[in-house]
Amino acid sequence: MLLQKRVILKISKTLITQEEIENKISEIADLINSKYKKEELVVVGILKGAFIVVSDLAKQLDVDVTFDFMSIKSYYGSESSGQIKIVKDLEYDISNKNILIVEDIYDTGLTLSNLKKLLESRNPKSIEIFCMFVKKGISKDHIDIDYSGFEIGPDFVVGYGLDYNGKYRELPYLAALS
Ligand code: IMP
Ligand code: MG
Repeated sequence: MLLQKRVILKISKTLITQEEIENKISEIADLINSKYKKEELVVVGILKGAFIVVSDLAKQLDVDVTFDFMSIKSYYGSESSGQIKIVKDLEYDISNKNILIVEDIYDTGLTLSNLKKLLESRNPKSIEIFCMFVKKGISKDHIDIDYSGFEIGPDFVVGYGLDYNGKYRELPYLAALS
């Protein structure tokens, strides 16, 4: 029988603590609460990574809000770069609604820029983006992020919704692997 070697990566250091994350979510919730005070808002969470950001944010929102979720896959291959595939679409019609996309991390920008184009084609009243972690200096598809949590370096990170092979999403802080 062939023995399979399994590479086990360990969490090497905490990059952003649970307390820093909680404070940031409160700060951003305040901005969103004042911006949409008199408006209806549809929060669109991008699965799976954004499930924790959305639930932490949700508890601090004090506006007329509904929640919907999408699951998408991005393709980075040369033939199909710039493409996203919808794995699970929204349940609601977003035409004439104020949309807030909530995403875990902005890396190359491919996912968010394509997603924004896709949702724009459905004629919402407005679209804003909240992205919890933004990787510095490596974006290929530039897109304006209306609310960004933390700027981080280019290293691969896990925790607070972000995974490595499906693991570590449950960590309440952001960590690097080694
Ligand atoms: P983008 O399309 O390159 O901006 O990539 C965004 C997606 O890649 C995110 O939604 C994450 O699922 C994934 N991703 C990018 N960087 C990381 C990371 O450091 N850790 C975990 N997932 C990541
Ligand atoms: Mg993702």
